[in-house]
Amino acid sequence: MHKVNHNSILIIKPKPKDAAVISRMIRQTLRKVNSRDNTPKEIRAWSEANSKKEILKKILDESRDSVVVKDRSKVLGFGSMKGDEITSFYIADGFHGQGFGSRLLFFMERLSKQKGVKRIRLNSSLTAYKFYRKKGYRRIRRVSYVFNRTKIPCVLMSKKL
Ligand SMILES: CC(C)(COP(=O)(O)OP(=O)(O)OC[C@H]1O[C@@H](n2cnc3c(N)ncnc32)[C@H](O)[C@@H]1OP(=O)(O)O)[C@@H](O)C(=O)NCCC(=O)NCCS
Repeated sequence: MHKVNHNSILIIKPKPKDAAVISRMIRQTLRKVNSRDNTPKEIRAWSEANSKKEILKKILDESRDSVVVKDRSKVLGFGSMKGDEITSFYIADGFHGQGFGSRLLFFMERLSKQKGVKRIRLNSSLTAYKFYRKKGYRRIRRVSYVFNRTKIPCVLMSKKL
């Protein structure tokens, strides 16, 4: 695990040039961490959904709010939301368990609240389910996120802000 000083962390809007490094960080995290709970086929489809092109689309989409967690120039996390839904939420493999996920989630919840969202929802990965439970999210039901005809099992969760 790589230890990072919380004082040097910034949570900011990503620039288009960050798309490649964000995509790489997500794909590595899926391969190293989520592969414990998902099949290789699911990880492949999920990785395709997080290609550089797809991340760039999210960064440029003005109907969403995307944020990046940075330690100086290093990308430690990425989150994206649209309306009342968090659609992407990742902390880089090797940096888990240091409170960065908590900080990113708090930031995104506060932003949603400022925009008038009363209840936030998300499709949790099987891996992140206990994290969201700890943060006050309630399970609604099991769902599938479908990408390229591959079903990725998730848990629909929500939290009143
Ligand atoms: C889920 C994730 C975002 C958590 O980020 P993190 O920086 O490790 O989280 P934090 O360090 O802020 O942890 C906060 C608390 O949740 C717990 N927690 C975090 N991930 C957990 C997990 N996978 N299982 C059980 N508990 C977990 C921590 O132990 C900590 O508990 P504590 O408050 O009692 O000390 C990160 O593990 C991740 O990116 N996972 C892979 C990608 C993923 O599945 N993303 C979600 C897509 S919906």
